[in-house]
Amino acid sequence: MDSSALTLILITILLLGQTTALQYPQEFINELYPDLINTHSVSPAQPPTNSPSLAPALFVIGDSSVDSGTNNFLGTLARADRPPYGRDFDSHQPTGRFCNGRIPVDYIALRLGLPLVPSFLAQTGSIEDMIRGVNYASAGAGIIFSSGSELGQHISLAQQIQQVMDTFQQFIISMGEIAANNLISNSIFYISIGSNDFIHYYLINESKVQSMFLPWRFNQFLARAMKQEIQNLYNANVRNVVIMGLAPLGCAPYYLWLYESENGECVEMINDMIVEFNFAMRFMVEELNHELVGANVVFCDAYEGSMDIMKNSDRYGFNVTTDACCGLGQYRGWIMCLSSDMACTNASNHIWWDQFHPTAAVNKILADNVWSGSHINMCYPMNLQEMVAKNDKH
Ligand SMILES: *[C@@H]1O[C@H](CO)[C@@H](O)[C@H](O)[C@H]1NC(C)=O
Ligand SMILES: *[C@@H]1O[C@H](CO)[C@@H](O)[C@H](O)[C@H]1NC(C)=O
Ligand SMILES: *[C@@H]1O[C@H](CO)[C@@H](O)[C@H](O)[C@H]1NC(C)=O
Repeated sequence: MDSSALTLILITILLLGQTTALQYPQEFINELYPDLINTHSVSPAQPPTNSPSLAPALFVIGDSSVDSGTNNFLGTLARADRPPYGRDFDSHQPTGRFCNGRIPVDYIALRLGLPLVPSFLAQTGSIEDMIRGVNYASAGAGIIFSSGSELGQHISLAQQIQQVMDTFQQFIISMGEIAANNLISNSIFYISIGSNDFIHYYLINESKVQSMFLPWRFNQFLARAMKQEIQNLYNANVRNVVIMGLAPLGCAPYYLWLYESENGECVEMINDMIVEFNFAMRFMVEELNHELVGANVVFCDAYEGSMDIMKNSDRYGFNVTTDACCGLGQYRGWIMCLSSDMACTNASNHIWWDQFHPTAAVNKILADNVWSGSHINMCYPMNLQEMVAKNDKH
């Protein structure tokens, strides 16, 4: 890889600014750097050929919890395109996933009988590439536009929704309105975002936010913003939405280090905010299910699911519950995961992969819960399997 050319591209993207640079990123990158596409568009798991899929497509919106390679194309510090990221993934290569292996939406795609969903920026833009689903998620992104900006470029929630709308336009142009709306209304939309509104906004007191908003008001604000985006999706014929709540950030190795936790005790102040966030989102989802006729909106409480894993870590086979597998310093939470020598040998017995992200083993348990509540029920008013079955009857 010619690093000076890459640097030039990244600088150009940064100079162009977020909105302009994002209008034609694919063409832009294709033209200047064709090899970059091949390096990153790993499509390891093939669609199961023998069983029909349970939904036509899976569309993913969110942050690093579900980014499958978007940030590989952006000028940002938030990238997972180098080892040891991906070392336990299907391809054993870094793909941009912030994990040693699969992320929750990988497990969910496979449950639905779909191939792993390609990143919006990594596919060619052809209909064939997008018809089984697209992943718009971008690490560093928040519900608030500027959350995560200090890391560099990212694609915020509102921008991701705009990309979804652009995709829908392409569907309509290529297959006609009826077929496109059929596809859109039967597909599953998975949204996992909000951590960066705490990590890179509220908790660093960006724009003096803490003196203007108490946590409860801040969470109300986030829930309202999310509600508006879901209504926008509904107006574009989206009917099936899964909203993943936030995990206990106060237990993440970074915060254990930052707050000098003793014996790995979680930072309660942060977890209290997360519990409130999840409560506000769940309440908002209940409202939406009343307001949006024919919609299925599901809220999955990742806090409950994660707390179950932490409390019953022995049963789940985790014997390292506070330290990250990869990183440096106390709890390996001080310096972010930058190279393979910073990583443990076996991530499977760890809950945390790096400063902020769980291991693939945890992602699998959470995805199983989203699908069918197989360990604990964490989705309201139904799990994904029930949503799919309900859809089937129409
Ligand atoms: C957040 O920043 C503002 C402005 O600098 C300051 O007045 C306020 O005390 C800060 N809040 C906290 C909790 O540190
Ligand atoms: C966790 O278990 C593995 C064996 O499964 C062992 O090698 C390792 O030392 C254990 N780690 C801790 C912190 O107990
Ligand atoms: C890694 O840890 C898991 C869970 O404890 C265990 O099942 C597996 O055998 C270990 N793998 C290696 C290579 O030690």
